[in-house]
Amino acid sequence: MGESLPAFTEWLASTPLSLHIQTTAWVIPAVQTLHILAIAAVVAAVFLIHLRVMGLALRSQATATVARRFMPWLWGALVVLALSGLLLIIGEPARSLENGMFQGKMLMLVVVVALTAVFARPLRNDPAYWEATPARRMNARGLAIGSLALWVGIVFAGRWIAYWGG
Ligand code: HEM
Repeated sequence: MGESLPAFTEWLASTPLSLHIQTTAWVIPAVQTLHILAIAAVVAAVFLIHLRVMGLALRSQATATVARRFMPWLWGALVVLALSGLLLIIGEPARSLENGMFQGKMLMLVVVVALTAVFARPLRNDPAYWEATPARRMNARGLAIGSLALWVGIVFAGRWIAYWGG
């Protein structure tokens, strides 16, 4: 198990697509630019939704309205992040897959996607779900604070990959 990851990254680095990315100078900067633009979209959507849940922004609109407007941006940008991230991994497998900071980032991402699904799911049947009772409003706030902390952690870990020893 301990040796299978380096063996996998070595194999991935020798595939034609990886070799093509490694030898074409503009690909990594271009894909990173796409990754950063998608980060801007995801973070903007996340902050607008969660600050509204906490009552700190867009208070003229119901939480349900804000969530309906920006949730598609959140999921759409996440798809772009996953695809661009995959290309970055294929281009530099060891740098990412064997990096503890990258692994931490992926773990936080799995948790935050689960929390986002918990938040988004009831809204499909009842757009006012999180505003219906004081207890639900409290739960929504807890979800929002936890999610925001994780998103900030993900951005931090993403940037830190470049400086993390192993
Ligand atoms: C499945 C989803 C994702 C994958 C596979 C992925 C993968 C990667 C990879 C491989 C890098 C390059 C790191 C390096 O070589 O220095 C990177 C950079 C980065 N990622 Fe992601 N990522 C994903 C989602 C996200 C999300 C959701 C965020 C934040 C909202 C994020 C934020 C960042 C940041 C801030 C960087 C550094 C960009 C730079 O310095 O140019 N990533 N990501």
